[in-house]
Amino acid sequence: MDSILVRGGGELHGEIPIAGAKNACLTLMPATLLSDEPLTLTNAPRLSDIATMTTLLQSLGAEVSSMQQGQVLALSSHDIHNRRADYDIVRKMRASILVLGPLLARFGEAVVSLPGGCAIGARPVDLHLRALEALGAELELRDGYVHAKAVGGLKGGTIDFPLVSVGATENALMAATLARGTTVMNNAAREPEIVDLAQCLRRMGAQIDGEGTSTITIQGVDTLNGATHAVVTDRIELGTYMLAPAFCGGEVECIGGRIDLVGAFCEKLDAAGISVTETPRGLKVARKNGRIRAVDIETEPFPGFPTDLQAQMMALLCTADGTSVLEEKIFENRFMHAPELIRMGADIDVHGGHATVRGVEKLKGARVMATDLRASVSLILAGLAAEGETVVSRVYHLDRGYERVEQKLGACGAHIERIKG
Ligand code: EPZ
Repeated sequence: MDSILVRGGGELHGEIPIAGAKNACLTLMPATLLSDEPLTLTNAPRLSDIATMTTLLQSLGAEVSSMQQGQVLALSSHDIHNRRADYDIVRKMRASILVLGPLLARFGEAVVSLPGGCAIGARPVDLHLRALEALGAELELRDGYVHAKAVGGLKGGTIDFPLVSVGATENALMAATLARGTTVMNNAAREPEIVDLAQCLRRMGAQIDGEGTSTITIQGVDTLNGATHAVVTDRIELGTYMLAPAFCGGEVECIGGRIDLVGAFCEKLDAAGISVTETPRGLKVARKNGRIRAVDIETEPFPGFPTDLQAQMMALLCTADGTSVLEEKIFENRFMHAPELIRMGADIDVHGGHATVRGVEKLKGARVMATDLRASVSLILAGLAAEGETVVSRVYHLDRGYERVEQKLGACGAHIERIKG
């Protein structure tokens, strides 16, 4: 297993290109199952999760080829001979559950392994299943698989989500595009990745209104066509790199960054003493004079502060002037980066969903371990400002969601290298 070594110190200056959104691409790719015509995705990120989704779709019979070093994905589902998504692939990546809605909508049947939990929480899929049942699906859980049928096809209906779920909104949205009649989704997720999916489905001929709000209305159609769609910018990669100069000083321009994707996040950056300026090519970020100020964070569904940027913000606040309180309201176990940051000298108390971070002058480099995707990058950021060397192990977590971290940060002056393990 590879590790990443970071030597602290030295400012960052330069440009960081922001890739297409992993969490948009992982729902856009299964949309190919809704049509027998080709779907082309441009601005696709080059990540191991995308490779896993490719393998899953190919196991169903879809053709997926990547061009231009992986930035263009050509997908085609005219020959789906297998409607069973096997545990061996699904267990590697929870987003695999997103083939369920499209398979059911187009073929009236699907057998999809339950994804199982992951490091940050149990992450059930009950909301996905209830939403599909509201569209007339008959579901049975057996042997760790969801056995789904829609005899005579799905029918439009009303879906009232008891809590906001990105994945369940995506599964139901895709399924509803081919359901007979009208579907109304209440308390739907409002994430930019949902908006991006709706825009792609509309290009394929779907009739959708209200994406980006809590109420989405879909008029079912008989078939969907092919389309070409550019994956939206990754707001989590964007937010991650916007924080980098705040750790060790300097100024970085995030190319492709859009302020509308990171609104609530930027409010907290401003409060912490970080300046963000819109430029013709993206967002320029620098630490204002003096030390970062402590701020309180509460993670919420979009447009609130994103849970996927909580670990990175905690790492920054470890050396802030003052005490910060972070409340993680989306996942039940998303502070696993805290013990690793404490190994670097941070002063953090975790009680359930609350973490209290008392700022210290400086962190010290140490050997630390990545536990999940976002925790891994928070440790790398912490290493940028720490005294001495930090070695982050198990960076396969990192490679799931961040392409070429060492190149992107290294190009701005960071002392960072990958150690093959
Ligand atoms: C998506 O996960 C993202 N993943 C996550 O990003 C992100 O953290 C999350 O949304 C929240 O924004 C992808 O898009 C591939 P949810 P998802 O359904 O859809 C509970 C990353 O680092 N819930 O919005 O799985 C769930 O346990 C990843 O890129 C149910 O109870 O998240 C959680 O507490 C991590 N039942 C809350 O809802 C369900 O059926 C929100 O989960 C579904 C979810």
